[in-house]
Amino acid sequence: MVQRVRKAVLPVAGLGTRFLPATKAMAKEMLTVVDRPLIQYAVEECLAAGIEEFVFVTGRNKGAIEDHFDAAYELEDTLQRRGNKAAELKQSEAVTLKQGSAVFTRQQKPLGLGHAVWCARHWIGREPFAVLLPDELMVSTPTCTAQLVEAHEKSGGNIVAVMNVPREQTKSYGIVAVKPEKDGLAEVTGIVEKPRPEEAPSTLAWIGRSVVLPEVFDHLDRHEKGAGGEIQLTDAMGKMIGHKPFHALTYKGQRYDCGNRLGFLEANVAISLSRADTKAESRALIERLMKG
Ligand code: G1P
Repeated sequence: MVQRVRKAVLPVAGLGTRFLPATKAMAKEMLTVVDRPLIQYAVEECLAAGIEEFVFVTGRNKGAIEDHFDAAYELEDTLQRRGNKAAELKQSEAVTLKQGSAVFTRQQKPLGLGHAVWCARHWIGREPFAVLLPDELMVSTPTCTAQLVEAHEKSGGNIVAVMNVPREQTKSYGIVAVKPEKDGLAEVTGIVEKPRPEEAPSTLAWIGRSVVLPEVFDHLDRHEKGAGGEIQLTDAMGKMIGHKPFHALTYKGQRYDCGNRLGFLEANVAISLSRADTKAESRALIERLMKG
């Protein structure tokens, strides 16, 4: 029987150099899209997929992430006393994770995504887990992670969410080679980290969402370096091809690459135009600005 996916690893140790100076003293995962930080979108995506336990792999200067998911006693007590701040109080309390459901461990050296995930090994143990890169903001119903969890229930094994990208962009992603799709899932026959366009086996890019088997740690334990001299998660997952089921799922939904400034701006505009509470005002504002 396929083991249920209950845990998620959120690697959040990255320095966010593309957002300097904003990220000089602040975690890039705390950058705000409309009214909530990027990391909250990833956590909400997990909760909607039935994830119960979270391992945040953090680093120096990331303390705000931990505080964000904790109770905020002074703030909440003040809101309560004011009497007319019930909605604000609810907003603050709604973000608090259940007691004991999250752990924060530090990646002490920036050795790559595979190394960051490896840092979570003792908290994951021997069960399948979700991996989410919070720079990638996904908007869909069911959530991207829910789509992966559902696929995992059917096929077991590793599942990566993929999307087609222009060939000239393959060097920014993990790229999969696949067999023809069956029932929305395609068997993965190869995965390469950041191939040059002329060498890429396809244009199907891993978009930072996966369900991964715990056997990945057996490969990550070896600390083998790959593309960019870093320990790559995609390389370790690739080692399981032929030994464990491994599928790619074409993600159905919106994806905003908030790891770069334009994608981040797009996410802010698109989400404010789609939310019932901000739609009308945002549209009017954008129309006014466009008139110049
Ligand atoms: C990481 C992964 C890559 C994946 C990408 C998705 O790369 O290593 O396989 O396709 O995230 O965003 P990074 O963007 O951290 O260089």
